[in-house]
Amino acid sequence: MYIEETENILESHDYNDSALIAVLQDIQKEKNYLPEDDLRDVAVRLNVPLTRIYAIATFYKAFSLKPRGRHLLNVCLGTACHVKGGAGLLRGLERDLKIKEGETTEDDRYTMETVRCVGCCGLAPVIVVDGNFHGKLEPSQVPDILELYK
Ligand code: FES
Repeated sequence: MYIEETENILESHDYNDSALIAVLQDIQKEKNYLPEDDLRDVAVRLNVPLTRIYAIATFYKAFSLKPRGRHLLNVCLGTACHVKGGAGLLRGLERDLKIKEGETTEDDRYTMETVRCVGCCGLAPVIVVDGNFHGKLEPSQVPDILELYK
């Protein structure tokens, strides 16, 4: 299968295998995940083993092998956030969005994941949506935050 966007991405990196991670980042950004066909195409075009590509794709949390929703919601469950109620936020989100950690809502609006400390423990408990930090959260504030991300 010819994948035009991926071909353009490969071309923009001069088909250079040392740019493999950058290529994967661009595909992830373009398609919101790394489709298998695209990875096979990258392996052939850059002449790198598919196993190496999968090793990278599964090592970095920024990459996803499954389609993600339009918004990526990370619930911090590091120690500070856990102590301040992060697990409660996660339970509330699981209940309201009807998904578990690692899943995507039926309408493809949110994918929810958990992280271990996002580096702003003073704001615990924290959730990060599309890279935006929301801290010192009470469960009652979460629905208003979700409304910001259509
Ligand atoms: S534990 Fe959540 S920001 Fe550090």
